[in-house]
Amino acid sequence: MTETSDRGDFARFFATWIRHPLKLGAVAPSSPAYCRTMVEAAATGIEGPVLELGPGLGVVTRALLDKGVEPSRITSIEYEKSFADVLKTRFPTVNVVEGDGFDLDKTLGTAPKTRFAAILFAIPILNMAQAQRQALFTRYFERLLPGGNLTQLSYLPTAPVKPVPGVFTVSSSPIVWSNIPPARVWIYSQDTGPRAAGAR
Ligand SMILES: C[S@@+](CC[C@H](N)C(=O)[O-])C[C@H]1O[C@@H](n2cnc3c(N)ncnc32)[C@H](O)[C@@H]1O
Repeated sequence: MTETSDRGDFARFFATWIRHPLKLGAVAPSSPAYCRTMVEAAATGIEGPVLELGPGLGVVTRALLDKGVEPSRITSIEYEKSFADVLKTRFPTVNVVEGDGFDLDKTLGTAPKTRFAAILFAIPILNMAQAQRQALFTRYFERLLPGGNLTQLSYLPTAPVKPVPGVFTVSSSPIVWSNIPPARVWIYSQDTGPRAAGAR
């Protein structure tokens, strides 16, 4: 992206934030370094489709493509129509879906349920209770392939979603100081410990 379109995206993002602060959850798109950190942490190296939730104007989508992830592998679900329209024009070979990333069965359909190598999650969830967040991520883990993971953009100093024993564990990247505000990538991995389903 050029500096001019970066500024244009910043203005568009900020204007949308003024109208829907809770839905957007950030005043500006994530920085390139932060997007790279997110993509490096995502399990895109295993075979299978990749799901992006809350792509905004596509900064993480761009980082996925820059890493060499084939556009045909990527599904990006964005709730805000004006953003989804931009994404469809900007990334014509990515599967951009305008819809609710919290309800994958409704947005993607139930039969057959697609399972993903990686889910890159950027939807604000701070207004949800912890138990709701854990239930949401447990549902996402049902959509992951073996070895797949979920990565989350968040500026909270502690894990926004606490581990669910037998389902997922949590770790994080170092803080990326160039982001506004500085933030970490939270990495949720399948729990293969003794409480995991099928483990002995
Ligand atoms: C914090 S912004 C992140 C945008 C971009 N990924 C970035 O890092 O700059 C959150 C995005 O999630 C979108 N969003 C909010 N609720 C959503 C939902 N239920 N389903 C899908 N996207 C949603 C917002 O419209 C916004 O684009």
